[in-house]
Amino acid sequence: MRTTVLSTTGIAIPVHGFGAMPLSIQGRPDDATGRRVLHAALDAGMTLIDTANVYCLDDNDIGHNERLIASVLAERDDRDRIIVATKGGLRRPRGAWTCDGDPKRLRGACEASLRALGVDRITLYQFHAPDPDVVFEKSVEELARLRDDGKIEHVGLSNVSAAQIQSARTIVPLVSVQNRFSPWFREAEENGVIAECAREALTFLAYSPLGGKRLSARIGSIPTLVAIGRELRVTPEAVALAWARAKGPCVVPIPGASRVEHALDSARAMHIDLTAEQVARIDAAEFTA
Ligand SMILES: NC(=O)c1ccc[n+]([C@@H]2O[C@H](COP(=O)([O-])OP(=O)(O)OC[C@H]3O[C@@H](n4cnc5c(N)ncnc54)[C@H](OP(=O)(O)O)[C@@H]3O)[C@@H](O)[C@H]2O)c1
Repeated sequence: MRTTVLSTTGIAIPVHGFGAMPLSIQGRPDDATGRRVLHAALDAGMTLIDTANVYCLDDNDIGHNERLIASVLAERDDRDRIIVATKGGLRRPRGAWTCDGDPKRLRGACEASLRALGVDRITLYQFHAPDPDVVFEKSVEELARLRDDGKIEHVGLSNVSAAQIQSARTIVPLVSVQNRFSPWFREAEENGVIAECAREALTFLAYSPLGGKRLSARIGSIPTLVAIGRELRVTPEAVALAWARAKGPCVVPIPGASRVEHALDSARAMHIDLTAEQVARIDAAEFTA
């Protein structure tokens, strides 16, 4: 397995994490298939799993993904080297995605995640997204209290700007930022968030690195990715993941999958490095979402 380090924690993580969301949201496979996909991703070395309390069908199903992961970890003897990163700060009323950064409810969500994961402390707890109705710093202060209480070991943010990263760092030490990043959506490169992570030694977890469920199906029709894939004898999806990683040593893509073969392809892609010329070709290619 090819590894890097989670920020300055000394915790070894694979250069690609596994995004477990597709195993629990609308269109999910049955749980037995979900467990097989998780075991395959872990066996192939993707020992960082990204999850969230809201990876589920709706508010009555909160914690589905965390419980699925816990059931898989209970079957393994390598639990100690598997890092589960979860999140709080959203809700799923009737299947919609809404923000909830209220400090009290954030604490409740964290405690429910502890129970769903069956652990005393969460290694990496990420604030899912700033809530426009709650002062951002109030939510972050609750993360600091959860850390002080020993319920979470390390704190991460998601869906944030460079200014929000700077503000949060004055309240609590951060180790990671999780924002969208793919050849289709490059805002993290353009708005300075990846640069901020590099400067502050934060791990940047690139979510939806294949463009998400809908656009990932179109990767195979992007001529530049197909051509580079042929040169390297890998899939165009593997090329897209290597492109994200080429943006800096702090960038760790977290591709999702609901099929074993896709999880294995993303794991194999950890060993691909693009040349500067190949990166420049993808930079210049047309991706219309
Ligand atoms: N923080 C946030 O707000 C946020 C938002 C979105 C996602 N995330 C995280 O990021 C993770 C990844 O994002 P995502 O799941 O939205 O999108 P993604 O990783 O860009 O794409 C996932 C889709 O790509 C397909 N796929 C994966 N590997 C493939 C391969 N090698 N060849 C062909 N198809 C492949 C999968 O198909 P199959 O399902 O058929 O295997 C899946 O539908 C999520 O699981 C979640 O952990 C976080």
